Amino acid sequence: MKIGVFDSGIGGEALAQALQKSFPSAEMFVVNDRNNVPYGDKSDIKIIELTNQAIQPLLERGCDVIVIACNTATAVAIETLRKKYPDQHFIGIEPMIKTASNQTKTNVIAVCATPATLASERYKNLVNKYASHLTIVEPDCSNWAYMIEHSEINEQEIASVINNVCERGADVIVLGCTHYHWIKERIENLTNGKASVLEPSEAIGRRVSELLG
Ligand code: DGL
Repeated sequence: MKIGVFDSGIGGEALAQALQKSFPSAEMFVVNDRNNVPYGDKSDIKIIELTNQAIQPLLERGCDVIVIACNTATAVAIETLRKKYPDQHFIGIEPMIKTASNQTKTNVIAVCATPATLASERYKNLVNKYASHLTIVEPDCSNWAYMIEHSEINEQEIASVINNVCERGADVIVLGCTHYHWIKERIENLTNGKASVLEPSEAIGRRVSELLG
């Protein structure tokens, strides 16, 4: 089984590591677009164009499935890709709003994601479908992907964002950008047990199994 994984940057590697554990015999092909990361502050047209270019090696390799391991590219580009390549299986990655909605006891959740994801129709539809009764805190994480990509993590800034969402009552924090998977433990520690932190690697693994058996 050949699994292709795409992200704008190192977020895809976090997801690919998790998938390789679930599918040890799968051949993994990971591509990223380091020349253009971050995608999260780019226009929809640009994100579609860049994603389409970046996945070409995965299409050429004949991957059984291509995981768009990027919330931003999924939110903006996956529908276009599915139409353009109807014979190719794609799996996208989206903020875990439904799970967060089932888990929250305070009815306040936080979604950490890029500006493009938060502005997208797909994200708005997810919120309308599963979380219209909740208060959703969307902190400004606009420079987090850049920080993480370049190993320039500003601990204080992250601590201040996480303290703030906890003070506002969020008891579930959704990581809606695969770059943030690399700092999940730090975020968990910062919550001091006040909030759980969700990311979808396991769910994506289950989806790959369903699709490819
Ligand atoms: N890792 C990507 C995501 O999941 C995007 C980061 C970026 O390029 O802005 O949204």
